[in-house]
Amino acid sequence: MKNISLLLQEAQEFYAMGTEFGFANPQSMSGGDYNGKEALVNGIKTVDMTRLDYLDLGQSPEIKGIMKGCIERYISCPTSQMALKSESTVHLERALAEFHGMADSVIYLSGYCANESVIQALALRMKTSHLGPYVVETDMGKKTRNIPTEFFVDDETHYSIINAIKFAKMKVKDGCLFHRFPTADYGRLTELLDKSKEELGDRSIRIIVSDTISSMSGRVYDVPALCQIAEDYDCFLYLDEAHAIGTVGEQGRGIASEMKDFERYKNRLIIMGTLTKAVSQLGGYVVVPDERLSCFLRACSPQYIFSAPLSPWMAEAVIQIIDLIRSDYGKAKRELLTNVSAYMRESLQKAGFNTLGSESQIVPVLIGKESDGIKTKAFLEAAGFTPSLFICPAVPKDESILRFSLCSDITCQEVDSVVRLLLQARGLYGF
Ligand SMILES: Cc1ncc(COP(=O)(O)O)c(C=O)c1O
Repeated sequence: MKNISLLLQEAQEFYAMGTEFGFANPQSMSGGDYNGKEALVNGIKTVDMTRLDYLDLGQSPEIKGIMKGCIERYISCPTSQMALKSESTVHLERALAEFHGMADSVIYLSGYCANESVIQALALRMKTSHLGPYVVETDMGKKTRNIPTEFFVDDETHYSIINAIKFAKMKVKDGCLFHRFPTADYGRLTELLDKSKEELGDRSIRIIVSDTISSMSGRVYDVPALCQIAEDYDCFLYLDEAHAIGTVGEQGRGIASEMKDFERYKNRLIIMGTLTKAVSQLGGYVVVPDERLSCFLRACSPQYIFSAPLSPWMAEAVIQIIDLIRSDYGKAKRELLTNVSAYMRESLQKAGFNTLGSESQIVPVLIGKESDGIKTKAFLEAAGFTPSLFICPAVPKDESILRFSLCSDITCQEVDSVVRLLLQARGLYGF
């Protein structure tokens, strides 16, 4: 019993913290049925500004109509394994590739899962344990086996990527090299690439990794500059477009696929997207410029081979939802989102708040001390608005950030109220 109680004791500490802050114990945050824009917090109806359904599709009758139609036509459960996927998941992979102007796509069950699986497949390559015996027997990859994969990763890149590289490194040590550069510091990135060229010459598979919109600061990264560096140093460029799919560009195809010089650079791009945010569904994917690469990723991802795919009805619904996102319907929602986001950033800046360089629908406010962040969040919630709070370990100790993620149904009047409440909180708590 002693060993059992050790773990339970540790769990108790998390449980206590979870009930205080909510994050480690989601049940303590649940205020009833999830209702889109409206969130019930401590019994009070609030405007949910933590929501990532950026185009407000989750509640729309058009999306519900699509889903009803698909669930009536197609089977409602997934096939047993991704490898035995249905025609519908094949259709969706083709549709996503076409959406991005790329050769093929590979679908996973969430954005996190896509990042983790693809980055690990690229890091471990044919050394993933399920392929080990097969590769050895057939001598596959003999010429390239001792060449490492080298990742050059922006410091603010999503946790799913950083964690995947760290795990892969534990497995293959020198086979996976991990360099990080301060966020958007492309001078430092090129220094790291120069050093790598000096040390390894052409015996390295180099991959630059960056989000296109930072999930924390809302910063929009300079994708053309990253493409140019990738071309100059002959690297792949892995772009996490989780927050840009659906929200950026004429057709909502994200930053890379809508970029002017996309055709010039696309052969070195691996673009990751998620279906859980602006697309309002489940799933994540990467699109790649070459079918050899998608085949390689499928074979080298145990998560792809040994897990279930999306259900056929869901895959067919996502295809139709993406068509809607590309249409004038999606375009009108993107315009609303762009306008209300610009309005909020400008209003906060005019009121003297630091919005951490945000240029997107993710609008953070730097609050300062952790206790002020906690009090300000509670103050906003009591007045009817729920933001996300970031405290240590997500940000340095004694810092806190409130993050507002805007959706196309948020109004300028609601933004005015939030700014007014933040000014009041600043008066009360003195941050
Ligand atoms: C930049 C980024 N990438 C990936 C993910 C993971 O996506 P998902 O929630 O679909 O697993 C997130 C989640 O918020 C994210 O912010």
